[in-house]
Amino acid sequence: MATETAKNFYLSTPIYYVNDAPHIGHAYTTVAGDVLTRWHRQKGEGVWFLTGTDEHGQKVMNTALKNGASPQDWCDRLVNEEWIPNWKHLNIANDDFIRTTEPRHMERVQRFLQGLKDNGFIYSGKYEGPYCIACEEFKLPGDLIDNKCPVHATTVEMVSEVNWFFKLSEFVPQLIERYKTDPSACEPASARNEVLSFLEGGVSDLSISRSTFDWGIPVPWDTDQVFYVWFDALLNYATAVGLGDDPTSEGGKKFASTWPADVHLVGKDILRFHAVIWPAMLMAAGLPLPKKVFAHGWLLVGGEKMSKTKLTGIAPRDITDHFGVDAFRYYFLRAIPFGTDGSFSWEDMGARYTSELANDFGNLASRLTAMVEKYCDGLIPAVATEEGLSGALAETVRISDAAICALDFQGGINAIMEFCKRVNGFVTEKEPWIVAKDETRVAELNAILYNTAESLRAMAVLFNSIMPETAKKLWRSLGADISIGDIGAQKIENVAQWGQLPAGSAVSKGAILFPRLEEK
Ligand code: ME8
Ligand code: MG
Repeated sequence: MATETAKNFYLSTPIYYVNDAPHIGHAYTTVAGDVLTRWHRQKGEGVWFLTGTDEHGQKVMNTALKNGASPQDWCDRLVNEEWIPNWKHLNIANDDFIRTTEPRHMERVQRFLQGLKDNGFIYSGKYEGPYCIACEEFKLPGDLIDNKCPVHATTVEMVSEVNWFFKLSEFVPQLIERYKTDPSACEPASARNEVLSFLEGGVSDLSISRSTFDWGIPVPWDTDQVFYVWFDALLNYATAVGLGDDPTSEGGKKFASTWPADVHLVGKDILRFHAVIWPAMLMAAGLPLPKKVFAHGWLLVGGEKMSKTKLTGIAPRDITDHFGVDAFRYYFLRAIPFGTDGSFSWEDMGARYTSELANDFGNLASRLTAMVEKYCDGLIPAVATEEGLSGALAETVRISDAAICALDFQGGINAIMEFCKRVNGFVTEKEPWIVAKDETRVAELNAILYNTAESLRAMAVLFNSIMPETAKKLWRSLGADISIGDIGAQKIENVAQWGQLPAGSAVSKGAILFPRLEEK
């Protein structure tokens, strides 16, 4: 090859069902994906971030009909009025948005599945058993509680039809081998163990088409049937980047530069689809497997999974109207270890907003800009170094980078907040307002203010992925947009280099990063 193009860091979220508008559970996954991809961009890597919507199947079809709309009109309306606007509102910087009703997806799905059929992985058979429409999943009698789905508490329907099957069972030994030899392929460890015990318990072949309704992608060799919605949906990760296209075409080149995905981010509800069925489909096609499936925990309401089906969803705007978008992005990743379940509470969010964001972080920034205004005519004083702070910063960058790249968002944020506390401690201890009263101590005063400002410069860059609007506000208030340049261009690996904020940078005071909360 003449040139070797660097492979992109490719991350996907699930594609969500459009049976309703997004709630904060969907936002949780999508924000996490956005933070991780923004972080990788800030490491100077090429990044591809995909999200989208899952539009076929009985669940979406039934909801549309119940609302007196055709399935396509229903999907168009929800995507354009709810899903895309919510992601814009939350400042999600996805590179692409795939909808499974788009021709680019449907054509590639048909071509891929025709290939599996031609290669002998698909056969005709009879399926009989329970099916949960809310999960869009075939269940085993042992999965049910009182004949109901344990996740949605909905009654399952009995399916009995002749349809097409995928030889899933053939891939079980290879899958077990993979998760045993490469633990990073499925995280956290609790998710990997669940997948392994599921595989070891024995897996049967999978029915992959349905003949009793038509809201799906037609099976090309048997157009009375449509593909099972999950078989269609999982393929989005590959169809969106040109699966099966001629290598010299645009799609083919995109595929070469993105596939395999680095991380499929999912909730633990859909772990088996991603860690069992999806890699088996890829194995059957001889394609490389995604490097990692990461299953995070659930946001709970009253101890149960928040869900569209149960109508327990809280809309992101209910929270952002009160706390703002950046506090929303911060809160869930800060409060819940990524991989475990957690509950949302207004009280906890209010308490963290006030103590961590408004007091520790926001007040530090406003105190510093006010002092530079008052004591230094609004101009950053001469570059100075404080070994304690610069050493702590180097350690902060190292820890937060390692944690965030390992999807330990809480660990990453904690490290940055610890640094923030340390800077607050520095200011309290040095008492610049006392030093300022003594004309002979002007150099000392300037050094205190410089070191504080330089610490804030670093915090702005480190928080840029998590709270992009706040970081930009802080950056501008330090005058860094003019004296340094675009915050997005600041690389993580250079953050710890001390002395980047130049003397003379013009600060503007009065930027309130986190306003006091209104009474609720
Ligand atoms: O399963 N807590 O779509 P879906 C945390 N279309 N995350 C939650 C959550 C909660 N309470 N509720 C939802 C589907 N999520 C399929 C996916 S992918 C090829 C097809 C998030 O609308 C979480 O990421 O039911 C979960 O896995 C996903 O939304 C399920 O969204
Ligand atoms: Mg669901």
